[in-house]
Amino acid sequence: MPSYHLLARLLHWIIATVVLATYISAYYRVTFTLQGEAANWYWLVAHMNLGVAVFVLGIAAFALRFILPRPRPVRLRLWERLGSLAVHYLLYGFLILMPLAAYLGIDFDIPLLNQVYFPRASHLGEFDAWLGASDNLGLTRWFYYFHVESGSELLLPLLLAGHVAAALYHHFALADDTLRQMWSELGEQTPTGSMKP
Ligand code: HEM
Ligand code: HEM
Repeated sequence: MPSYHLLARLLHWIIATVVLATYISAYYRVTFTLQGEAANWYWLVAHMNLGVAVFVLGIAAFALRFILPRPRPVRLRLWERLGSLAVHYLLYGFLILMPLAAYLGIDFDIPLLNQVYFPRASHLGEFDAWLGASDNLGLTRWFYYFHVESGSELLLPLLLAGHVAAALYHHFALADDTLRQMWSELGEQTPTGSMKP
């Protein structure tokens, strides 16, 4: 199969757009609204729902990875293949871990579409209390800070930057089909992974 399956391509670009919207909603809220304003809450609700969508779509994309037919890989050195595999798996991990960390790190019910409330993970707080952890040291706090600081401000952006840089390097420097096969339906491939003229 020369390209990724249509469903895999659609999911990839929808996830990329929703992740971008998740960041925009988080930063718009802290930059342009004030605590107590209605807009502050609505942007947070939008952020949480976009994040939940990332979680669901991320799991779906990961599962489909093992079900849908995949394109023949372009020719790569072993370390490049292992590197790309590691980054892809880490990306899937973060699509699932970031929302999970938010859920475990915040102490209120999640308003799904601002209609139905998904109950908070109160047992983690009870576990922290049972451990005798202070408010700033418990697991709940750890997940919270992972979500708003190290995870979302450092690790995920680094992974995404590496991922996008690699895609552009393939496209412009190596001039192979890596990006094209994630973007559109390709014709017959040559053994090196480039399109037949
Ligand atoms: C991939 C998914 C997600 C990403 C990349 C993400 C990213 C972020 C970022 C960057 C911030 C920090 C903004 C700042 O500097 O204050 C933030 C805050 C927040 N996120 Fe997420 N988020 C995701 C999913 C979720 C989900 C699913 C929820 C809820 C279930 C959620 C709940 C929150 C909350 C409550 C805050 C505000 C914390 C505060 O101001 O004290 N996030 N998120
Ligand atoms: C939030 C943004 C993004 C996320 C979370 C993301 C995630 C992923 C994941 C998990 C895969 C592995 C697919 C698989 O084989 O199962 C993948 C593949 C790919 N992504 Fe992204 N991606 C994002 C943005 C982008 C952007 C902006 C580009 C282009 C500039 C891009 C180009 C590609 C390409 C070309 C592949 C196929 C790589 C290969 O066949 O080795 N991605 N992406």
